[in-house]
Amino acid sequence: MANQTSAGPSHIAIVMDGNGRWATRRFLPRIAGHKQGVDSLNRCVRACIDRHIPVLTVFAFSSENWNRPADEVSGLMELLAMSLAREVPSLVSNGVQLRFVGERQQLSERVREGLAQAELSTAGNSRLILNVCFNYGGRWDIAQAAQQLASRGEPITEQALDRAMALAHVPDPDLIIRTGGEQRISNFLLWQAAYSELHFSDKLWPEFDEAALDEAIGAYRGRERRFGKTSAQLAPAVDRHDTKAA
Ligand code: IPE
Ligand code: IPE
Ligand code: MG
Repeated sequence: MANQTSAGPSHIAIVMDGNGRWATRRFLPRIAGHKQGVDSLNRCVRACIDRHIPVLTVFAFSSENWNRPADEVSGLMELLAMSLAREVPSLVSNGVQLRFVGERQQLSERVREGLAQAELSTAGNSRLILNVCFNYGGRWDIAQAAQQLASRGEPITEQALDRAMALAHVPDPDLIIRTGGEQRISNFLLWQAAYSELHFSDKLWPEFDEAALDEAIGAYRGRERRFGKTSAQLAPAVDRHDTKAA
């Protein structure tokens, strides 16, 4: 039953959407929703540790999010820098290895240093790998991987591209969750999502709690992952000894 999902997901990826609406509904500035979103991420990290999920990947800022109003973009940059300073000690004590995935050149030197420092401080941890996709786009990732191969004169094969992707250090996500009610991928893991199971939650990201996570995992467990095969091919082989005994 190797392809059936009686086991839980080993890698969960989340499009953390809905922070702005959460704030607007409360007559708060959008950045208040993003702050609440950081708390929700902390809870989610703890929940993944409790559930022995080894890899969590979250979408925090997309290549397209630069198109938002300048004050929201600068607020998000500030929030990232502040959150790193505040959260890294507890990530270290909880055994979380933090990795940032995305184009760093466009980020300020202060933010880039913060990212590098946080990665260094958590590099020795292995209980949970937390990939934070920041200034990330699936198209950027495919293009940068192809660029690497081209610059080395390597043939562009699926395997070579796979190894050059920014998420090459983890297996592809088993389950991709999007909160906030939208049913689209918004340039998230385009390459790695080839066989991920998708789950859409109407909950806004700041409201996404353990029960909502368990609902997503439960839905995932009920799926049959066929990877192109037929259902019959996935059926467990009949044990000949059992048949004789019956
Ligand atoms: C997701 O929440 C966080 C980021 C994109 C940074 P949004 O800010 O997109 O929230 P909504 O979709 O406007 O509610
Ligand atoms: C996707 O959310 C990006 C992140 C959650 C970081 P958006 O809110 O930017 O997506 P669209 O614009 O609604 O597709
Ligand atoms: Mg949104």
